[in-house]
Amino acid sequence: MHKRSLQDLAANAFATLLALALLVHGAGPEAARADGRLDPQIGQAQTATAQNGMVVAQEATAARIGADILRRGGNAVDAAVATGFALAVTYPRAGNIGGGGFMVIHRAGGEDTTIDYRETAPAAINAKSFLDAQGNADPQKSRDSALAIGVPGTVAGLSLAERKYGSGRFTLAELIMPAIELARDGITVADDTADSLPLDKPRLARWPSSAQIFLKADGSVLAAGDRLVQTDLANTLLAIAQNGPEAFYEGDIARKIAAAVQAAGGVMTTDDLKAYRAVERRPLGGTYRGYDIVSMPPPSSGGVALVEMLNILEGYDLRHDAQAQELFLMIEAMKRAYADRAYFLGDPDVVKVPVARLTSKSYAADWRAGIDPDHATPAKDIHPPGAPTPRDGPDTTHFSVIDSDGNAVSNTYTLNFSYGVGLVAAGTGIVLNNELDDFAAKPDVPNAYGLIGYEANAPGPGKRPLSSMTPTIVLKNGRPFLVTGSPGGSLIITAVLQVVTDVIDRGMDIGGAVSAPRVHDQWLPDRVFAEPGFSADLIRQLEARGDTVTVRKLVTSANSILVTRGRFVGAADPRTRGALAVGY
Ligand code: DON
Repeated sequence: MHKRSLQDLAANAFATLLALALLVHGAGPEAARADGRLDPQIGQAQTATAQNGMVVAQEATAARIGADILRRGGNAVDAAVATGFALAVTYPRAGNIGGGGFMVIHRAGGEDTTIDYRETAPAAINAKSFLDAQGNADPQKSRDSALAIGVPGTVAGLSLAERKYGSGRFTLAELIMPAIELARDGITVADDTADSLPLDKPRLARWPSSAQIFLKADGSVLAAGDRLVQTDLANTLLAIAQNGPEAFYEGDIARKIAAAVQAAGGVMTTDDLKAYRAVERRPLGGTYRGYDIVSMPPPSSGGVALVEMLNILEGYDLRHDAQAQELFLMIEAMKRAYADRAYFLGDPDVVKVPVARLTSKSYAADWRAGIDPDHATPAKDIHPPGAPTPRDGPDTTHFSVIDSDGNAVSNTYTLNFSYGVGLVAAGTGIVLNNELDDFAAKPDVPNAYGLIGYEANAPGPGKRPLSSMTPTIVLKNGRPFLVTGSPGGSLIITAVLQVVTDVIDRGMDIGGAVSAPRVHDQWLPDRVFAEPGFSADLIRQLEARGDTVTVRKLVTSANSILVTRGRFVGAADPRTRGALAVGY
């Protein structure tokens, strides 16, 4: 296949995603303006300042539940686990027990660590699972069918985090209890749930088990002000509270999940569920201008790409460069890191990923040597050294937590699309993911986020699909300085990059860094996306260097915490309604 048609394919997939994003957020078309870094289409982050602890999450009740655990003497992990279970009830489009994610933990006085609770492919999945009879990638299979459902990791991940790194002052049951009550008694539909349900209705309405929960008798979806009662989910959570994660992975609930997936045409078995393990992994480490970066290693591409981009940028004086030049260099770094992502990254338990090489300062220096400060490098001219020759051929949510002892948690978890595949496993209340679209169904064919990949990320039994989720903690002198991360598929890594550089290089406060418009380039399609808020002149300057720039709002939500003069300042990203920073 020619590079040109490849780029078109990637551009089409990405354009679909952006169109979806615009639908969700009602953003208008081109809106470049000359007023610098804040834009009414994006809005202003809600911020909170506190001395003792902070939780910033996409939904206010779940954020408050976490803050309450901190207030009652819990540590950041206790609070994250309580918030994680609560979001499964209060933010059903992405908060979940039917999906998976990553948790990065900074331990005051201990080794930092990460919990990989990414979904795995059922044993019956293979390299051909998402192809049609002609051998072409079939997005219907990988996005809309039960074949797309990965074995959920969230219950294993949150339980492992609590068992090993919780304060010991709370039982798992105590941390799950608020979620059980909210599921049993019901919540009032509001904010982003009210925004997303009408858009995702067609996916949910396909299955009676989902319609029963999210639709009314007249066939319309629950709207702002309606009660969302999730009795089956309350019972599932109660079983986990009483009997631990085994209650999810073995026995009645596991049987119901497997039966629901199979009845919908998928291949997950009770053995797949029984075999699931969350994995503790050493964090992906890096440095940037004297700060330490603690982020997520493969099967996330986030940490590797983030550190690679920061290493490239460290060789420039971003602080003093004109903004157009700063953005240009950032975009050049993005193209190179996303090319490496496509070629080299995948599940480290199955393929060998050259993490040390990709994140070394010398590798970044080699990339930097090829960057022309005046001319954009076309995507087709970027060839990662050692890359195999290509053969022819939303939704997520992030929360950040910090406690008074200096422990911090950065957690991103997901169902992939908004409400995942849309299927609730009958009798369990569990909304199931469609995470397996994150595999490269076929070399060179873009996934829903326009990302391409090769053998390293081919579908395979038991394999974890490559992710872009980038939960990250930046340390200064060994102590948490910034806790950040975001949803947004391929947009995640570049959003995190810009929060980090806006704070470190531009000296912005966290409210400003989270609200500031962002740019994005993912190598393919060969195109820069810039949010409204950059001046028309700045866009022209980028175009003058040879980049094609499209101005669009980018759907990310970097709920972050910055430690400022010894105090915790939380910022809830304004791009998605309902997020809250709450401290005490
Ligand atoms: O793991 C990933 O990279 C994707 N499944 C994340 C999807 C996502 O962020 C959707 N949210 N808007």
